[in-house]
Amino acid sequence: MYLTREQEKILAGEYGWAYAKALEIIVKVGGALGAEKLIPITHAHVSGISYTNIGDPGLEFIRDFYKGGVKAKVYTTINPGCIDLLGSSRIISDEPRDKQLEINQYLERMGFKPTYTCIPYIHRRPVVDEHLAWGESSAVIFANSVFGARTNREGGPLALAAGLTGYTYYYGLHLLENRVAEVKIVLEDIEPDYYGGLGLWIGDNIRETPIIMNLKPSIPHIKLLLAAAAASGGHGLIVLNNLTPPKTYSVDDSAEKIHVDKEDIMEYTGSLSDIQGEVIGYIGCPHLDPFEFEELFNLIKTHEKLKKDYKLLVSIPRIYADLYRDEILFLKKRGVDVVVGTCPIVSILRDKPDYIVTNSGKAAFYLKRLHGIDTVVAPLNNIIEILLGDQ
Ligand code: F3S
Repeated sequence: MYLTREQEKILAGEYGWAYAKALEIIVKVGGALGAEKLIPITHAHVSGISYTNIGDPGLEFIRDFYKGGVKAKVYTTINPGCIDLLGSSRIISDEPRDKQLEINQYLERMGFKPTYTCIPYIHRRPVVDEHLAWGESSAVIFANSVFGARTNREGGPLALAAGLTGYTYYYGLHLLENRVAEVKIVLEDIEPDYYGGLGLWIGDNIRETPIIMNLKPSIPHIKLLLAAAAASGGHGLIVLNNLTPPKTYSVDDSAEKIHVDKEDIMEYTGSLSDIQGEVIGYIGCPHLDPFEFEELFNLIKTHEKLKKDYKLLVSIPRIYADLYRDEILFLKKRGVDVVVGTCPIVSILRDKPDYIVTNSGKAAFYLKRLHGIDTVVAPLNNIIEILLGDQ
């Protein structure tokens, strides 16, 4: 792999062992994949910071870098951890608090932004063709597909190393020649409310990079679609016709057309009539953007009939704790369990419900696999109606 003189100096340890180690991680991964060089990045996003996911080995990995005296070289944001930063959730456990706070402290002292969210683009919006090194598959696919930026699906350690050095390896979705749609997906009358299930269907059935031809341009629903497809398949890019910026992709002339209708995706969503026993509603995977949060707030505000024992879990970015202090207080008074800087997938639940009903295909995918909980994917309005007793 070609390295500049500056990169060779870093690797030789001239700036300390920790920067050398960080660059070595990137060079090793890039070298194994056949990358010819490294490229500078402007924004790293570090996933894999939840103690319940990475355990002591992950904590020690982060602590070692911190002790090596390194600082972020570029703008670097971080994913949710395993605890509610408001510390008042009835659904998400407060443990292991000390270990998570220790991880948070090291990351923040290394100069990483305390964002604790999987939608880092609310803090800094990528621009077309910008090179990034992002972990968190839902953010990666959103950056590539909606903003036309360029990032691979990085693992947590590599994204951390990229934040510390300002480089990543030139490979995969950084190259225009790899951003080619090879399948055309034609939607037959699928409303945006079903995009979460559609994403699961795409991830499970389509291996190539697809282009979706007739999508309704609702960004919150597209966010759910992309996150679900990235979770159930390996997608880092889905071309969205009339939305993905032109010249950030191409379409293969011989791309096969595949038609998808509502019937196809129903097996991925499940049915509301299956639900029984104790139920939790869950919104916020990926974390709610400001528009979604306000929509939810208005929905809750306008419902008079509240079931006494209903449970609704909502996960939001760390920054909303300050921005929406009054709204969060209001929602909590209404019994909504608003959690900040975490989510039920990367944390421990105090009690397992029989069912979780969510608008997120990604949440359904992981809640089943990681926590063994049955799930149904349903539109936001339906979830609110069930939980608030209008149905
Ligand atoms: Fe975000 Fe947790 Fe979903 S990190 S994308 S809310 S699994």
